[in-house]
Amino acid sequence: MCGIVGYIGNKKASPILINGLLRLEYRGYDSAGIATIENNKIKIMKNKGRVNNLYQLEGINELVGTIGIAHTRWATHGKPSKENSHPHIDNSNSFAVVHNGIIENYHELKKFLTEKGYKFVSDTDTEVIPNLINYYFDQDKLNDDKKVLRAVKNTCNSLKGSYALEILSIYNKNKMIVARKDSPLVIGKGDGENYISSDIPAILSYTKDFYLLDDNEIVELSRNEVKFYNRDLQEIQKPIKSIEWGALSAEKDGYEDFMLKEIYEQPRAIRETVGAKLDNGSIEIEGLELSKEYLKNINKIYIVACGTAMYAGIVAKTVFEKLCKIPVEVDIASEFRYRDPLIDENTLSIYISQSGETADTIAALKLAKLKGAKTLVISNVIGSSITREADYSIYTHAGPEIAVASTKAYTSQVVLLNILGMYFAEKLEIIDKGTIKKLKEDILKLPSQIEEVLKGTDQINEFAKKVYKEKDMFFLGRGTDYAVSLEGSLKLKEISYIHSESYASGELKHGPIALIENDVTVIATMTNPDLVEKSMSNVQEVVTRGAKVFVITSENIKNDGITRNNKNSKNK
Ligand code: M6R
Repeated sequence: MCGIVGYIGNKKASPILINGLLRLEYRGYDSAGIATIENNKIKIMKNKGRVNNLYQLEGINELVGTIGIAHTRWATHGKPSKENSHPHIDNSNSFAVVHNGIIENYHELKKFLTEKGYKFVSDTDTEVIPNLINYYFDQDKLNDDKKVLRAVKNTCNSLKGSYALEILSIYNKNKMIVARKDSPLVIGKGDGENYISSDIPAILSYTKDFYLLDDNEIVELSRNEVKFYNRDLQEIQKPIKSIEWGALSAEKDGYEDFMLKEIYEQPRAIRETVGAKLDNGSIEIEGLELSKEYLKNINKIYIVACGTAMYAGIVAKTVFEKLCKIPVEVDIASEFRYRDPLIDENTLSIYISQSGETADTIAALKLAKLKGAKTLVISNVIGSSITREADYSIYTHAGPEIAVASTKAYTSQVVLLNILGMYFAEKLEIIDKGTIKKLKEDILKLPSQIEEVLKGTDQINEFAKKVYKEKDMFFLGRGTDYAVSLEGSLKLKEISYIHSESYASGELKHGPIALIENDVTVIATMTNPDLVEKSMSNVQEVVTRGAKVFVITSENIKNDGITRNNKNSKNK
């Protein structure tokens, strides 16, 4: 996730923009840039690295424009570099754009524009936007004061994906246009000036009065006016909202802590990770090109990672084996690297690392490479160390993880691994069209289903209040529910310091059941209809020993036994 700031008023824009970027740096920090208009020209200054690097550029203090846009980047397309930094400008130097989000049809748009003679200097999806605005501007034969606005509207209507945009144009030197879809954007109203940002904290020190934009809205701002339009350029009215947050609470978007904020960011993280991968006939994953021949000859897939990322790998084992019929081993990177694992050129080794900087995972990858295996990395950070070593790198788009305790990164990894399994199965031609269609539909439904679950957290709060003082807790599950329980147990230990273990339900009777005594809390996950009966008998075993059981199940599993046997059970 990147950060956006903008200003239009009578003051020098650059210090306001840089100040705002510094406040947003936690959202992305591989590069930063600003653009202003001076003497009828757009001036852009940008640099790779943190905002400080931008601040130190020669001439930055001499920028005197009183209108400007700014961006701090967290790469989604193209490595961190000056060329890939925002703002991006069109070929005629007339339109500058900063963008948060992902344009899913940018390949198509780039091809279209290239055929029209446009040239591109970056690897980003964003660069198509100013050029497309320029294209529509040139096509428009009406020369009225809405011409730029129309070009922006036509551009927005051509984009697939998510965007929050700020646009400067030399044809409208005293106006700025902003637009949003599936990526946040707010306008802070001042006196004879207006502020724009992706996040309230960046501009909260200047104003408390905000317009919160909704999807598909386009706004034209001048110093004294803010005009809102829908996607057909009909003018609409929006209420102003007064925000009374303190600075820290604002950084967390009003959530109590970053972890909670990131839990609520899961639907967006998953939407952006899925992107356009499932849109066409067969699954396409940018950066990945594995032939049927290669996949047919794989003797084994190794999935190697640490902690949460490794637990995402355990989910993938079930998926890959089921869909692709290839044996999968999941290994802890710090174990794998010090063994002599059985790998050869017919082994595909997959490494999962949110940060892309975990030393054990990087070392494990290097070892597999030495042994001749192909290496595929799943990371959340473009250009991170591990991606520079791998044969193939594919990305989750969860945005920066501030909380340290993974939540949105884990769910995005699980989703991407599922898509990867489907991609392999499709290439191998061992999956029927009906199954793949159903799986695609299920994945596309996930973000809104998570939104639903997040609306009903009262039961979870109630349960947490009852158990937060306990010393030990147990998690049970079968199949992928067991994999998810491992992650649940890790999260509980990590954030509440409660000792916790996770067991495959069927293993309970082989020893661990000795630990289940009166009043111990057990969290049992059972979302697979085929395994509910089996799981229920394990729940019965612990209930008999006096355990309190919290059941996590699926709304479409109708098993009276679950609720009859457990007065604490919850359906989610
Ligand atoms: O950045 P990585 O995914 O390589 O990090 C691996 C683990 O340290 C990480 O997944 C850790 O277990 C989680 N942050 C815990 O919530």
